[in-house]
Amino acid sequence: MSKRTGIWLLSLVAVLLLLQQCKPDPHICEVDCDEADSLYTGTPDTITRPFKFPPVVIPPDITLTKEGVQLGRMLFYDPVLSSDSTMSCGTCHIQQFAFADGGKAKSENVFGALTKRNTPPLFNLIWFKDFFWDGRTNSLPLQVQDALIHEQNFNAAQAIPKLAANPEYVRLFKKAFGRPGDITEVKIEKAIAQFMMTMVSAESKFDKVMRGQLSFTPEEERGFYNLFFKDTGEANGFGADCFHCHAASNGASNITLIDNNFHNNGLDFAASFTDFADNGRGDVTGNFLDNGKFRTPHIRNIEVTGPYMRDGRFTTLEQVVNFYNDSLKLSPTNDPQLKFAHQGGIRYLSEQDKADLVAFMKTLTDTTFLNNPKFSNPW
Ligand code: HEC
Ligand code: HEC
Repeated sequence: MSKRTGIWLLSLVAVLLLLQQCKPDPHICEVDCDEADSLYTGTPDTITRPFKFPPVVIPPDITLTKEGVQLGRMLFYDPVLSSDSTMSCGTCHIQQFAFADGGKAKSENVFGALTKRNTPPLFNLIWFKDFFWDGRTNSLPLQVQDALIHEQNFNAAQAIPKLAANPEYVRLFKKAFGRPGDITEVKIEKAIAQFMMTMVSAESKFDKVMRGQLSFTPEEERGFYNLFFKDTGEANGFGADCFHCHAASNGASNITLIDNNFHNNGLDFAASFTDFADNGRGDVTGNFLDNGKFRTPHIRNIEVTGPYMRDGRFTTLEQVVNFYNDSLKLSPTNDPQLKFAHQGGIRYLSEQDKADLVAFMKTLTDTTFLNNPKFSNPW
């Protein structure tokens, strides 16, 4: 090897080494650096479909990434998103209560006023078609927008500079949404939506019994098969008929226990179609035939999500069962499934029946979900 070739080779190695060093690190790159956009793609994340749940369908406008979920988790718990920096989503949606607002019939919003309705729990949202008690939106990012505006009086001009001052936020926004690496309201909404989509609860005793890993006690078994999942009336063996609403229509193959439908379950008397205290679904569709109807709520984790109903009027599950047994109120939109509404309810449930129904409902508590560190406050 001649001296000249040697120098050439050495220079080549030096140039290659330099190039290697210049290779941009996506973690430390600032907004202005000029490497390919494809570097900012984030790490794809997935949601596992639980046993006897419908397929997981991620909405087309959302790309689920680990960075997006982590960002959403930080934002969900960050009070900077409220007008006076005192309130986050996690103020009302508390993990140990399956993200309901433990024990409160209504919650206090950032204006110091009470919310119109009870704070619902948050989980398995990916299988809901419509959100809120009246189903007024069918998109999770839009739902987040609604919550930011109505509960937290979100002020983008104030909050966004504060987020931009945190390098971890800057990095995660870039990783989750690519170029340009700016922070916008829409990205905030989509990130929180991503985090909430990963909140899946399917590890209750009920799920384990369905998977053949555990057995019901005799009480729980009666509560489920003979009461909750059996139609009312003598011809049907005196069931309690809860499954027509608190389950998919094909109950046995879909155990989400939601039907994505709206019903009037007879909470309030109304003399006419226009006489309801809360029109619910009717105000969304503009159809008076929907007045007094509400989306069937979650029954999973019900033990920890009280008080119950859209206004939190019942504090115990025993009160709920008594209501279905003897306190149904008549109104023009009563659901036809409530066959005994004219006599105030099922009427024939014994004390044992009621206790069995409650025992079954308590098998729906998923302590794995309630304690999952993935969903806890990261701050
Ligand atoms: C002041 C308490 C409060 C705060 C803060 C709050 N929420 Fe809510 N949330 C509610 C109430 C009350 C409802 C039910 C409203 C209705 O249906 O009319 C609700 C409903 C929801 C729903 C619909 C659940 C379902 O079953 O359809 C989601 C999702 C949700 N909130 C997420 C959030 C997010 C995300 C934030 C933060 C940006 C947030 N909430 C902040 C009280 C709150
Ligand atoms: C016709 C449909 C229908 C039937 C049948 C039905 N429910 Fe409901 N249930 C609903 C709706 C709708 C709500 C919410 C009503 C509201 O707050 O306006 C509800 C609310 C509940 C709640 C409170 C949930 C919460 O988070 O506040 C419980 C518990 C409950 N039902 C249990 C039962 C049991 C037990 C049975 C059987 C005895 C039953 N339901 C039968 C539709 C039904």
